[in-house]
Amino acid sequence: MPTNSPPAVPDADSIPIENVCERTLLHTQRFADDPHRIYRWMRKQGSMVPVELAPGVPATLVVGYNTALRILRDPERFPADPRRWQDAMPPGCPIRSMVEWRANALRSAGTEHERFRRANIDSLDHIDLHLLRRQVIDEAETRLESLLGRRDIQDANQIDVIADYARPLTFTVLNRLLGCTEEVGNDVAWAMARMFESTEHTEQVNTVLSRSLGGHIAAKQSTPGKDVTSRLIAHPTGLDPVELIQQLVTLYGAGIEPTVNLMANTLRLIYTDPRFLARHDGFLPIGEAVTENEIADPPMANYCLSYPPAGVTVDRIWLPAHQPVVISMASCNNDPAVNKGGGDYLHAGWGLAYSAGPHKCPTTAQAVARLIATEGTARFVDMLPDARPQGRLTWRPGPFHRALSAFPVSLR
Ligand code: HEM
Repeated sequence: MPTNSPPAVPDADSIPIENVCERTLLHTQRFADDPHRIYRWMRKQGSMVPVELAPGVPATLVVGYNTALRILRDPERFPADPRRWQDAMPPGCPIRSMVEWRANALRSAGTEHERFRRANIDSLDHIDLHLLRRQVIDEAETRLESLLGRRDIQDANQIDVIADYARPLTFTVLNRLLGCTEEVGNDVAWAMARMFESTEHTEQVNTVLSRSLGGHIAAKQSTPGKDVTSRLIAHPTGLDPVELIQQLVTLYGAGIEPTVNLMANTLRLIYTDPRFLARHDGFLPIGEAVTENEIADPPMANYCLSYPPAGVTVDRIWLPAHQPVVISMASCNNDPAVNKGGGDYLHAGWGLAYSAGPHKCPTTAQAVARLIATEGTARFVDMLPDARPQGRLTWRPGPFHRALSAFPVSLR
């Protein structure tokens, strides 16, 4: 846990973050409706701007790519441990469960972080990606066949891409990777949805997660399998029961919603951008559509929170101690300093969708996410060739994600 460092003194020529420009409220529907117009405006104000993550929760949003990289690679001055800060959150704060301290890699710093990260990476690295691809394809086909065979769906001639397909598909795949039963998965699904919507259910969310995942871990302790949970339990770092629960919460939290949104947003891009569906050569470059989303409109739009233990000057802007610094992957990836807007994203290793620096999304986790999103999209387009979006699609408010509220499509 960070100690109270002596406050650093602002340089004479630096300005406090709150004086850079008007504070933008990231939690509003207005922001969700058109974030990229607001990111463009923000980048004109400087590399960092003042924002509000929830009512009464001020933060700094990093909107310039090069500044973001420097911060992400500087865990000494920008550690990810929120403990000293989180007591300042207003009671009932809707983003608490997304940002509060947990015994996991995301919210730890230094040797604590290394320990949790090692356990996660070693457990994920055993995943057989070839087998997983087959499982994703089979699961996607089974799910679509069962949807198409349902009388109510045939009558309505409509399904919701997110609720009926992308989310249950991703959940089933993650449940299998983690060795969880459908029942445990359903509880976790409920809790995760509330966590990502940043609604006021924090207590209930944490209770449901502890109960269901605690039971799952006990079952795996007595009967281990070839799954990520069993590997975490057996890992030489010796995670205790609470730490084990928190690793699973992180794997579900980090794995489900961003992957669902990557798949849904890719399908939206394919259906709404003439470069994709209207191609006359019959070849649909789904991998390119996924990559374009990761770059131009990443599903985790603003995240990677850190908390400077002392005031710090960056780009002549003074950031106060113990106030969140949030990276806007969505803005940074569109920063003209790195993205000339040509759309040639085939070699897009520079993108920040999966972050950079010590907390970067583990390589195998990235591969799992891309595999689910790509194969899930491909099966959907292949098996429902006449599907088309219905009505105007709207975006779910929330400071962190880029998520459609719903995604109805007609089938014929
Ligand atoms: C499209 C899907 C995904 C996106 C956009 C994404 C993005 C990210 C980002 C931005 C971070 C850094 C967060 C921070 O520093 O606060 C991260 C970390 C992490 N991700 Fe992913 N992720 C995705 C899928 C997954 C999946 C499928 C898993 C595992 C099943 C996973 C596991 C993790 C873990 C364990 C970390 C913590 C690493 C650390 O703190 O050292 N992610 N991810």
